Parts: sequence; C-alpha cells; structure tokens
Amino acid sequence: MRAYELRRKYIEFFKAHGHKEIPSAPVVPENDPTVLFTTAGMHPLVPYLLGEPHPQGKRLTDYQKCIRTGDIDDVGDNSHLTFFEMLGNWSLGDYFKNESIHMSYEFLSKELGFDMNRISVTVFAGEEGIPRDDEAARIWEEAGIPRERIYYCSREHNWWGPAGETGPCGPDTEIFFDTGKEKCGPNCDPTCSCGKYLEIWNNVFMQYNKQKDGSLIPLEHPNVDTGLGLERVIGLLEGKKSVYETELFSDIIAKIEELSTEPNEVSCRIIADHIRTSIFMIIDGVRPSNVEQGYILRRLLRRAIRHMRKIGFDPSNMPTLLETFITTLEEMYPETRANKDTVVAVIEEEKNKFLKTLENGEKEFAKNVQRAKNEGKTKLDGEAVFHLYDTFGFPPEMTAELAKENNFEIDMDGFQELFKKHQELSRAGAEQKFKGGLADHSEKTTAYHTATHLLHKALQIVLGEHATQKGSNLTAERLRFDFAHPQKVTPEELQKVEDLVNEQIQRDLVVTCEEMTLEEAKASGATGLFENKYGDKVKVYTIGDFSKEICGGPHVERTGNMGHFKIKKEEAVSSGVRRIKAILE
Ligand code: ALA
Repeated sequence: MRAYELRRKYIEFFKAHGHKEIPSAPVVPENDPTVLFTTAGMHPLVPYLLGEPHPQGKRLTDYQKCIRTGDIDDVGDNSHLTFFEMLGNWSLGDYFKNESIHMSYEFLSKELGFDMNRISVTVFAGEEGIPRDDEAARIWEEAGIPRERIYYCSREHNWWGPAGETGPCGPDTEIFFDTGKEKCGPNCDPTCSCGKYLEIWNNVFMQYNKQKDGSLIPLEHPNVDTGLGLERVIGLLEGKKSVYETELFSDIIAKIEELSTEPNEVSCRIIADHIRTSIFMIIDGVRPSNVEQGYILRRLLRRAIRHMRKIGFDPSNMPTLLETFITTLEEMYPETRANKDTVVAVIEEEKNKFLKTLENGEKEFAKNVQRAKNEGKTKLDGEAVFHLYDTFGFPPEMTAELAKENNFEIDMDGFQELFKKHQELSRAGAEQKFKGGLADHSEKTTAYHTATHLLHKALQIVLGEHATQKGSNLTAERLRFDFAHPQKVTPEELQKVEDLVNEQIQRDLVVTCEEMTLEEAKASGATGLFENKYGDKVKVYTIGDFSKEICGGPHVERTGNMGHFKIKKEEAVSSGVRRIKAILE
C-alpha cells in the first residue's frame, strides 16, 4: 500500500463510521502560544475538546503534519522523525472507549490486514484518585487481544497531554506492533525502547482539563483523541525495518549517498529527516533566526549541514538534493512543489551563511578540546561554547554533539549563564537606543507607529497569519515595514490592506495600554516580537477590537486623526521577506 493510499483508507474508514473530514492545520499553531509547533492532530481542536460545539459535529477525522523536536537526538535510529504525519479521529463527547477501541481493532485487522497476533496494547495502571483502566482492558479482550498482551502501565507511559502547559488530557491506550526482534531482557515489554515493540497508534481518553496550578478538572463530556503514525505504519506494511527504507525516504537517502564521498547511515538519516522537517517549516513561514521556531529551524539546518560536511557531501549540490526531496514529497504534499523556489532560497541562504564559519568553527572547536584535554578536563567550559555560538554560529546542541563524537562533554549550564548575561546586556543597549530614538519623536512618528500596528494586523487578515513582522523603521515622513510572505503581494491584496487600515482610522478606535507579564501577554493573544522582551513586564497596546501587540509605544490615543494611509511601494528584502513603504497623507 502506498502512503497516500493509507492516508485515504484511514479517512474513508472513519468517514464510513460517521466522521467528517476536517482540513489539516499549519505546522505553526495559529492560536496557541503555549507551543512552538503543531505536535498532534488535536492542537487545532483544543476549544472543541474543552466543550465548544464544532461546526462539523461530534465525529471528526483528518491527517495532520506534525513536528516534534523533543526526540531530536534519537533521529538516526529506525523510527524517530522530527516531522511525521498523524492520522487522527475524534469523538467530541460522542463515543468513548468501546467504539474507539473496536474501530481501531477493525481498521488494523480488516483494512490494513495486520497480523493481530503481533499486536500488544498498554492501558493506564491508575494512581491515587484515578482508577486503573480495567474498562479499556476488558474491551481489548472482547475485541480479540488476549490478556497476556494487555499491559498496565503508569502515567509516564499511559497518560497523554496537555500539549502545552494547560488543556485537555487523560489516560490513553497505546497500540504496539511486535517487530519480531528478540526480547532484550526478561522485563522487555511494550514500554521498552529496544525496538522490539513499535508504537503505532495512541487512543487518548480525554477526560480532564489541566489547570495552570497542575490540578485536573473533569470535563463535562469526555472525548476521544487518537493519532496513528503514518510513516511507521508504512514501514510495517512495506515490511521494512526502518522508516528510512520506505518509499517516503528511499530515494532521498539514495541521493544523499550518491552525492557523498563517505556516507554513513546515521548522518544520511539525520540529513534526510532534518531537511524534510525544515521544508515544511519554511512553507509555513518560519525563517532561520535565533529565537523560537526560527531557532529550531536554524538548528536543524545547521546540524544537517555539518553532517553533510562530515560525509563529504558537496554543498553546491544542495539544490539538486532538494529537488529529490520535492519529487518524493509532492504526491502527498503538493505545497512542496508550489513553494520550491522559497524553500531552495531560504535553505541556500542559511547554508551560505553557515558555511562561512563552519570550517573555522570546527578548527576552533578542535583547538579548545585539545587545550581542555591538556588541562586534564573532560568538559568544554561555557565560555568556549558561547564563543563558538557567538562567533561561529554553532548552536550549543551541535557543539554538544560534536563533543560527544570526540568523547567529550560541554558545560551547558555555563553556556546558559553567559547567554543570559549577554541577552541582558544587549537588551540594555537596545533600550538605550530606543530612548534616544524617542527623544526626538514627533506626533507624526507616533502616528506612523500606530499605523504600523494596523498594517501588521491588516496584512495578517489579508495574506494569512504567517505574515508576521520581521522589521520596522519609522521616520516623521514614512513607515517601512518588513514581514514574512513567500511571494509578491498582488495589487488587489495591497488595496485590501490599505482599505482595512483606513477603515480602522475612520472608526476612530481608542488605543489603550496595559502592563503585564510576557506570559499573560501571550495568553491574552497579543502578537509581537517576543524575542526582544526579557523584562518581567511588557506593555500591550490594544487598538479597539482590531489589534493587540506587545510594544514599547508610544502610540496615538485615538486613530481618528492619523490621516489617510497610503502604500507607496512593495518589494522583496530577502527570500520570504517583503517590505512595504507607506505614508500618512
Ligand atoms: N494526541 C495523541 C498523541 O499525540 C493522540 O499521541
């Protein structure tokens, strides 16, 4: 079975069982500041899992692109990936354990033809205040899984969620396939990571809403949230011992090997996984940077580039390799072909930036390790790690990996301390500059500042949420605003943006300012450049019902007297970043 057929089969099966298909969400969550990436199909459904009625009803199904970077160090083994597709089905206060388990059993046995003698399951063992899940165990037994292959496990294994700090969660039952490998020891069971048991599906019984203080409030209607890993199941259906040998990766791995002088399995897998994930991040608007999503992208790309160097992959072949990625991916993800130019441009730019310092950084690293060894140390101190980061652009995690390859360690705590100190210094510098800039601010500059917020919001409404601020520059004569967007903004779109801004000016909206912590600001839905705000309190400026941004100010008190907003120019700044120049007439 091909991967796209598995996807379709899954969706059709659940549709035949009364589910409505809903669209996939971007890999960067749209309304959830508690997580950097969409890690499961349930993210966009959080409000509905908490009780809000969903317009499509109580039974839903979809396929969802997911990114999980928690397991990044495991990438290279047979089954871990930082990007994967999750096939999911949900009951929003409709069916519960019985139907959920029976449907999973039927799908695996009848639709996919799995040998059910090789399936084991785990259920929640219970803890103080929450009973053991004997119900799930009994249903599995009824469905056809014998008692000896039903394992009771603790919260560590059989509890899922919430995805962020708060939200829906509950006990789960996980489904494993026995790969046929020998048990690694007498205690080897589905929770063991030796590779004998491969988790393929997780059915979560979401019965609680976790609060900030850690307490669990029972939900009025319990839900079911399931997730099946497409890549792993394809691996099993193809009879391959690793996801990297399946149709989803085989051409990519072959190409990396072909273009390298000394390929090794782990490096090839790391490159394949990290670039694949980066492609999906870039398509959804992430750009390499030193903060949040952008930093994860940078880390993935730089790690992949270092491994390319290690295996003798000539970096000038990057575009050729990217074409192979897209040829493999486009059948299931047509957006990869549509965004090829942006993907190539962003990766090439980051590659070129990093290649300038990689070789010297590696030399510097070797020198530092030698010196530390001569001094009888086993760890690279924080200062050396920070120097590699600051001067050569080495993410500390990458330095740690390099160190490990040399049987050495790094002082990550020491690095963190220096990093924090450095941030505080640069923040102080930025505040100085900011104060200087404000000293000569005129009424007009203030109006341009407010216009920038209106423009930012209008761009997000017209172009999409990905159109976030990348930079801004104001004078008393004009504003300049940079934002993420993969292509030229059309004249029609520009007109819409202009009209939206002018509409808000005419509405004479009141501008208010509140001080709160960064966490409160994020929770209130405020947007803004979070990365520059390390103080305890931030200011949040709200313009009527239109915009809410973290910002230092100042702003006009009402929008009515700002004048008429006119866009003068729209142009490219760098790959994936556009610039608008506009005036208030
Ligand atoms: N949300 C559940 C998971 O990610 C299904 O495993």
